[in-house]
Amino acid sequence: MRVTRGRLSHGPPRIVDVIPRPAHPIARPRRLRRTPALRAAVRETTLVPRQLVAPLFVKEGIAQPQPVASMPGVQQHTIDSLRAEAKELVAAGVTSLLLFGVPAAKDAQGSQAWAPEGIVQRGLRALRQDHGEDVVLYADTCLDEFTDHGHCGPLRADGSVDNDAAIASYARAAVTQAQAGADVVAPSGMMDGQVAAIRAGLDAAGLQDTAIMAYCTKYASAFYGPFRDAAECAPQFGDRSTYQLDPGNAEEGLREAAADVAEGADILLVKPAVPYLDLVWRVKQSTGLPLAAYHVSGEYAMVHAAAERGWIDGDRVMAETLLGIRRAGADLVITYAAGWMARRL
Ligand code: PBG
Repeated sequence: MRVTRGRLSHGPPRIVDVIPRPAHPIARPRRLRRTPALRAAVRETTLVPRQLVAPLFVKEGIAQPQPVASMPGVQQHTIDSLRAEAKELVAAGVTSLLLFGVPAAKDAQGSQAWAPEGIVQRGLRALRQDHGEDVVLYADTCLDEFTDHGHCGPLRADGSVDNDAAIASYARAAVTQAQAGADVVAPSGMMDGQVAAIRAGLDAAGLQDTAIMAYCTKYASAFYGPFRDAAECAPQFGDRSTYQLDPGNAEEGLREAAADVAEGADILLVKPAVPYLDLVWRVKQSTGLPLAAYHVSGEYAMVHAAAERGWIDGDRVMAETLLGIRRAGADLVITYAAGWMARRL
């Protein structure tokens, strides 16, 4: 890395850094900031609807969609309201949809996660039927929404999460999700070996074309609070710090990313987004794979809460935040504001 004219840069020297620029008159970068058209002409970062991914919650056994109090504008959907929301998103240009399910019944193993008629599988089938290949369907592949204890895998007698049993279940879930129409399965449990186990499970079932978006650097974060209301998946005891990354660790996050690449990940994911933008940049630079960053529930809720108090301009803060995530290197931005943002672009 070189530091040139106060900028950090990677790679070979650029002409702009080595050819002397006129000493007089003084440099005038403001020339290109004078009008909105000039600023737009030289803007480096784009944010367009196809780069947005909308997370959607579908709940079994409800007759009407239910708003999530801590996430304004977000609902727990019925299959019907899921279909309606997906139509609006697609009309706005958001063609990437990430499905989370809330089952009617939970058990210790989380068996509804791989049930062929599970709520996620039914939601996937409905969306595939409505949109064919015009959408990219992502399925969250985890167990915490499906286990009665709220952890991301089955428990051993001492209450710890059984890694290898968890990844075997993720593989089963990925197979039924893919069979129901998922283009991409997204393991979010941070178990060791989860990508390899899912890849092997998919391939053995003849699902070689299903892609894996790996949550490689997911931190044990306080920013997931509102999501746990929406997905009804708060751990009933303890927390997730024995499987999610410690917030102080960046090098470890890069090792996790490298392991997921080696195991066959197709897309990598960093989560949360804004407190971990260094990881967004470093994972993108070090792997070159398509990278998603998840602007999570707490990040979304904070913008709304401050805007409600009149302390910030919520629309501008949200738009600036999502653009900043792109600027840091994310190809895809997963956000509860996807529909709103797309309509504004
Ligand atoms: C777990 C999962 C979580 C989120 C996505 N998948 C919650 C957690 O780890 O507790 C959080 C997403 C958000 O906060 O928006 N399978």
